Amino acid sequence: MSDCGINTTLDDKVLTLTFDRPEKKNAITADMYQALADGLVKASEDDTIHLVVIKGSDSAFCAGNDLKDFLENPPHSNDNPVWQFLFAIEACRKPIIAGVNGPAVGVGTTLLLHCDLVVASQSTVFALPFASLGLCPEAGSSLLLPRQCGAKKAAEWLMLGDRFDAKAAESAGLINRAVETADDVEATLSEWTQKLLKLPIESVIETRRLMRTPSESVRDHMEVEGDVFKRLINSDAAQAAFKAFLSKAK
Ligand code: COA
Repeated sequence: MSDCGINTTLDDKVLTLTFDRPEKKNAITADMYQALADGLVKASEDDTIHLVVIKGSDSAFCAGNDLKDFLENPPHSNDNPVWQFLFAIEACRKPIIAGVNGPAVGVGTTLLLHCDLVVASQSTVFALPFASLGLCPEAGSSLLLPRQCGAKKAAEWLMLGDRFDAKAAESAGLINRAVETADDVEATLSEWTQKLLKLPIESVIETRRLMRTPSESVRDHMEVEGDVFKRLINSDAAQAAFKAFLSKAK
């Protein structure tokens, strides 16, 4: 638990990080960045945690960096919690799923590029106003957004700063699913959580790691995959799955 604007809970292998500063539309302060970074590092290192969920409140996901903080305490050093959070979300070994309602501005959108599965409701408004604020993209978004959604869409969103909704985010591939209501967001998070928790954690971690670290060539990547595959084929989870299938086939 935390009273700094991030509510951190651990329940049945799931670490949930909930933005909890609704009066400021969940704009992120230095303390909140630090709590997010701490949670993600813990999730990455702690074997009892299999999944991270990131959520906002019903009326807002996250209005981005607290602009008062930017003015009074600009993050010039990599030790600053802003960068610590971004490094931690990029490095997190466990799957991250996110549920979005209401505004998702700046880092409130770019953090989603590091999530594995994202659901957003009709109330969501995404915006990346870096250029109009005299800034530039962060969180690797100038690389990841064109890669995930295409260069032309990224230019509309990162250069023009056009706002967009959940349906547009879904059709561009920024999110997995656009749903109607906040309840639908919760139901989708619950569905994904149940599915992910049933899978062997090592297979999930390795699948995710392989997708995020492409090799120079397809052949090189096959070799990297092959090394993991050869190890996992002897794992207890794989052996049990093979035997379960074969015993049903009899
Ligand atoms: N930093 C600091 N305070 C913020 C904030 C931010 N990023 N976003 C919202 N707030 C504050 C507002 O100043 C307001 O505070 P007040 O009640 O003390 O006046 C409160 O949160 C509610 O915001 P408001 O603008 O009234 O809500 P809204 O529903 O009309 O609009 C947003 C929501 C998110 C669209 C709008 O607040 C906004 O554009 N915020 C700035 C987003 C931004 O530029 N983020 C930085 C990206 S790098």
